[in-house]
Order: sequence, then C-alpha cells, then structure tokens
Amino acid sequence: MLGAVTTRDEAAELDAADPLAPWRERFVTPDGLVYLDGNSLGMAPRAAIERLAAVASTEWAEGLIRSWDHWLDLPSRVGDRLAPIIGAPPGSVVVHDSTTVNLYQLVHAALALAAERGRPAGIAVSGADFPTDRYVVAGIARATGAAVRADLADLDGVGVVVRSLVDYRTAELADLARETARARAAGAVVVWDLSHAAGAIEVDAEAAGVELAVGCTYKFLHGGPGAPAWSYVAAELADRLDQPLWGWFAQRVQFAMAERYDPYPDVRRLLLGTPGILALAAADVGVGHVADAGMAAIAAKGRALTDLALALCAELGLQSPTPTDAARRGAHVAIRVDHADAVHAELIRRGVVTDVRRPDLIRIGCAALTTRFVDVYDGLRAVAEVARR
Ligand SMILES: Cc1ncc(COP(=O)(O)O)c(C=O)c1O
Repeated sequence: MLGAVTTRDEAAELDAADPLAPWRERFVTPDGLVYLDGNSLGMAPRAAIERLAAVASTEWAEGLIRSWDHWLDLPSRVGDRLAPIIGAPPGSVVVHDSTTVNLYQLVHAALALAAERGRPAGIAVSGADFPTDRYVVAGIARATGAAVRADLADLDGVGVVVRSLVDYRTAELADLARETARARAAGAVVVWDLSHAAGAIEVDAEAAGVELAVGCTYKFLHGGPGAPAWSYVAAELADRLDQPLWGWFAQRVQFAMAERYDPYPDVRRLLLGTPGILALAAADVGVGHVADAGMAAIAAKGRALTDLALALCAELGLQSPTPTDAARRGAHVAIRVDHADAVHAELIRRGVVTDVRRPDLIRIGCAALTTRFVDVYDGLRAVAEVARR
C-alpha cells in the first residue's frame, strides 16, 4: 500500500515485485525516454523488427509470389491469436484494414440486421465518442437516410448503437454485458469499438453477448504504426453478415475468378483486398506478446499503474476526470491542465511523452508490458511541475 506521499523508491519497489517486468526487455526502449503514450502507439517489440526484416529479405525478396502460400490466411491466423485477448472463440476474428473501414462495414451490417429484426434505421453514437466513430456514422446516415442520435440513454427508435467500451478521453469503462443486454432488450444491435480496451483490460466478448466489434492493434497490442485493425462477429451471425464492401479476399473460392460474388460463410466475409503483409506480420508479433503475457496479468498491472497515477494526481494537486474505481476504467489516465498544448510540448522537450487531447487534457497511457511504475512516477511529477509553471 502506498504511503500518504508516494516516493520514487516505493514506485521502484512496485517494479521490483512486478511479474510482468521482464517483458519490457523484449521491446525497444529508447534511452532516457519516459514513454507514457502506449495507448496511442505501443512500443516496438524487438521480435517485430526481426520479423519485418525476415519477411522483407526472405519471404518477399527470395520467396516472391510463392510466399502467398502462407501469407493468404495471415488475417485469420493473426485473428485467432487475438481472439482470446477479447474473449472470442477461434474463427471469429479477422485482422484487416483500418478501424475506420471495419466500422463502416459493421455499421452497415448492423443496419441490415436491425432491419431484419424489424427495427428502425436510427443510429445512436455518443457526441463524445472518438471522431472517426461519429464521422463513419454521419457518413452512413447521409448515404442511407438513417437518423443519428447523439445520446445513448434512450434507445427508443434506434436500430444500431455504435460505442466505445473505454472512453478515449477519460478512460471511463462502460459495462459491456449490461449495455449489450440493454440495447438488445430495446431491439438494437451494438457495434462495439474496443480500441482502448483490447490488450488493456479483460474483455469477454462472447460471454457479454457481443454481436459485432472492432478495434485497432497499434495501441495496447503493439502492432506498429498503421497496423491493421480487427473485426469480431459472433458465431451465429457470421454466415450471413451483409456488409457493403465486396472484395475478392472474402470470396469462398478466391482463385476460381468466378463471375458471381460468393463470400465465405464466416467472419472472413469481411475481408476486402490484398492485405499489407509487412504490417500484418509485425502485428502478429505484438498481438502474440500480449496473448502470451496473458490478459489477467496485464489488466491487473494496468489497474495498479493507473492507481499509482491517480494517487500521484491527488498528492500533486492535479485534477483527473478518470474514475477512481479501478473496475470502472481502462488503462489510461487523463489529467486536466491549462494550456494543454504548451504543457504537452514542454513534456516532450523534457523526454516525457504523453498525449494531448484538446482542449484541456494530458493523457497518460499505462501499457502493462512496457510501462514501469517509476515511469508513472517520473511522468506525473513532470506533468505537475510543467503544469504549475
Ligand atoms: C476509439 C478509437 N476508434 C478508432 C480509432 C482510429 O481509427 P483508425 O485506426 O481507423 O485510424 C482510434 C484512434 O485512436 C480510437 O481511439
């Protein structure tokens, strides 16, 4: 238990007792850098860099077109590695394209499901949700004539709900099972965005009754910049999901070059065109590290790191909108500051990398495999010092 005023030695003791501490050695950790932005771009696994070199110099340069024999099913293989991280069964996740594209596909699919269930074409998305989620909904509404509601409280007249499990600003965590059931009871289909949850907290998508979900792999899953996102479809929907982007990688017999589109009767019907193999190979390593370390240990450390961050906020007089109850938050902490851009820039100058979320938030990411308790300690003290200037 931390004392009334936390010392750096206490933070170092937490590191010494941390069962995940050895994982940090598997990542490139730039000298002297206090990196607290793993919730935007996770640190690079050393094995990912080796894998990229091997894929480029051997599989691509030497194997050339022949390497497609083991590249073709990479979106599904990485999906199967990712599945246990979000409590999904094998064969229910594919890794492909971007969160934005995958959301577009699944919101369309959800509208079709809602129509099948006799529901109206209304889509609810919180006005505080991540911009791409709101923009995708707005774009689909413009194209289809669906009505948009910026409020999730009343689902009357709503057929589809789009929502993030962990708020990208405050880290507030929604109740996945309860909110899925509430929407279901109102007749609505939820498309969950788990970008800030996958690899950060324990998620049991199947047990929670989740029907459709997407998320990125470049944050807590250490997939690399622009790494492909993932899509999850519940088994009972996968054979008939109606999505609007028809590409040949979803085609059941791809190389028959048939005239008619006849997609896989499973989650692979979401695949589009040729996947970026280099990016997928790197993501495979990051996702594999998280799966191997295990979500129970990762989530427990995320709670401990964010507990420390919030305790330090209280001690240092910093105000945070992040829930103090560890069960109600993800693995990042937001801090309210004046002049957030200037604070962020000065922190970077001092070698402390955080996020800024305008107008007034500094965001501290606590990626369990790479963030040390002393990083949180040093980072929070730096934020307090800079914010006070
Ligand atoms: C909740 C959420 N959804 C989506 C995205 C981004 O989507 P994309 O991967 O398509 O850029 C982010 C990026 O930070 C995010 O936080």
